[in-house]
Amino acid sequence: MPKTPEALRSYRWYGPDNLRAFGHRSRTAQMGFDRSDYAGKPVIGILNTWSDINPCHTHFKQRVEEVKRGVWQAGGFPIELPAISLSEPFQKPSTMMYRNFLAMEAEELLRSHPVDGAVLMGGCDKTTPALVMGATSMGLPFIFMPAGPMLRGNWRGEVLGSGSDTWKYWDALRSGRITSADWQEIEEGIARSPGHCMTMGTASTMTSAAEALGLTLPGASSIPAADSGHARMATQTGKRIVDMVWEDMLPAQLLTAAAFDNAIVTVLALGGSTNAVIHLIAMARRAGVPLTLDRFDELARHTPIIADLRPAGRFLMEDFYYAGGLRALLARIGHLLSLDCLTVNAQTLGENIADAKSFNDEVIRPLSRPLLQQDGIAVLRGNLAPDGAVIKPGAAQASLLRHTGPAIVFESRADLAARIDDPSLPVSADSVLVLRNAGPLGAPGMPEWGQLPIPRKLLAEGVSDMVRISDSRMSGTSYGACILHVAPESYIGGPLALVRDGDLIALDVPARSLNLLVDDAELARRRAEWKRPPPHHGRGYGRLFETHVTQANEGCDFDFLEGTAPTSEPDIY
Ligand code: FES
Repeated sequence: MPKTPEALRSYRWYGPDNLRAFGHRSRTAQMGFDRSDYAGKPVIGILNTWSDINPCHTHFKQRVEEVKRGVWQAGGFPIELPAISLSEPFQKPSTMMYRNFLAMEAEELLRSHPVDGAVLMGGCDKTTPALVMGATSMGLPFIFMPAGPMLRGNWRGEVLGSGSDTWKYWDALRSGRITSADWQEIEEGIARSPGHCMTMGTASTMTSAAEALGLTLPGASSIPAADSGHARMATQTGKRIVDMVWEDMLPAQLLTAAAFDNAIVTVLALGGSTNAVIHLIAMARRAGVPLTLDRFDELARHTPIIADLRPAGRFLMEDFYYAGGLRALLARIGHLLSLDCLTVNAQTLGENIADAKSFNDEVIRPLSRPLLQQDGIAVLRGNLAPDGAVIKPGAAQASLLRHTGPAIVFESRADLAARIDDPSLPVSADSVLVLRNAGPLGAPGMPEWGQLPIPRKLLAEGVSDMVRISDSRMSGTSYGACILHVAPESYIGGPLALVRDGDLIALDVPARSLNLLVDDAELARRRAEWKRPPPHHGRGYGRLFETHVTQANEGCDFDFLEGTAPTSEPDIY
């Protein structure tokens, strides 16, 4: 039964014949709109994460006009609501510190304004989960408009990929294989257009996950930001949200346990970022789906990686789009998906991909020739990670997936930076590098420090990968035998806090284990000596963060934002 105009949420602001509604109408008139512009129409809040300092969203100033065009055409009333842009390259100490900030902002922007439905404009890493988390908690109809990937990078005719080639050529510079002049040319060629990172990093992973969850129009996440199809998608997104309001299509209808399984399988088949583990757990818990780390491991055991995309593979998102994009990939793994899940266009996922085809079997591999048969992400447990840790086996040197070696411990990022290239560091290719105090509370903000650099003297010997362990995260564009998200983290006394130089650490990815080979009595003695460091912040948002953030295996949400308790409606007086 479609909604009536009187049943619209915004009617409470605009409809009544009282003093307060007079104020809302007269102030809307002040902005140049008369009653025919909005009366009886769905008011669409467009959460725009544009800013002058987010290079991934530079086109959002234009795209928001295209979204508005769609909203007007469909008979809605668009209002743009700017939100913090979470610029991955610039915001310190880490945008992860502010993911929950944007989630709160999204929820409160929607709650406190006369909004009937929302378009969420995001793409740069944390913006996707943050906007979805906030809008899910608010519970109004919403649709996600992904920013789209930037075009391929270029250096002297060589294709450059965001992040991956930064690390690759940084190591080349450090070991003298390229010059400073070469490095500067790469600096100017690696990011050539609007749009988010174009490798299968966190941004591409999370926008694809949003599409697999049914939160975008079909195919939307793969369209390059600079393609005219992206502008058309923005307009279609604006049109569709108006109908979603009339149909009262609520997030709870879309965000089911089966939809989250679809998102996980999609991330795995894409060779997506380990960051998705944290974000999807947080998003699911907002939707009332009790997702745990173990579900990732279970699904990984029978999901092949078929997207040959960097950092795991060879190609970039622009190639993926030309190859058919996410719809083509989903069609190929359709047997692993719940195809009856509803999506924002009122069709099922299965209907949306029914006619999808792959046009390039190198980019989207057939099931008979996957990049990796299984284990896109593996969850490890053991006495070093009782609540879990993750690794991307496909991004690691195969010989390191079963490895025992002596630890070299760095207390902090600063300690790491000071000593990693010291010629006297007693390190060999067999060493296990350990970084602690890099987790949600320890850093704080759980930055992407998990791809610890290979010591310069080992690089010179040709060593390209080592086992590295931390309680931090890793950029989705990174690679290597990096064990991440160790929980509980060292800062709160997780076992990582007890490791000492020279202790043997045993990693066995096939057995899913990570253990410190030190006896229990010695560990108990070390624990008795351990003291928790003082908090980093005495006041402000940092204090709020440190008081309420949960551990990596729980999604790093704030404890008071989790769950599905209804968001209360504001009094209007
Ligand atoms: Fe925005 Fe990578 S910097 S997605």
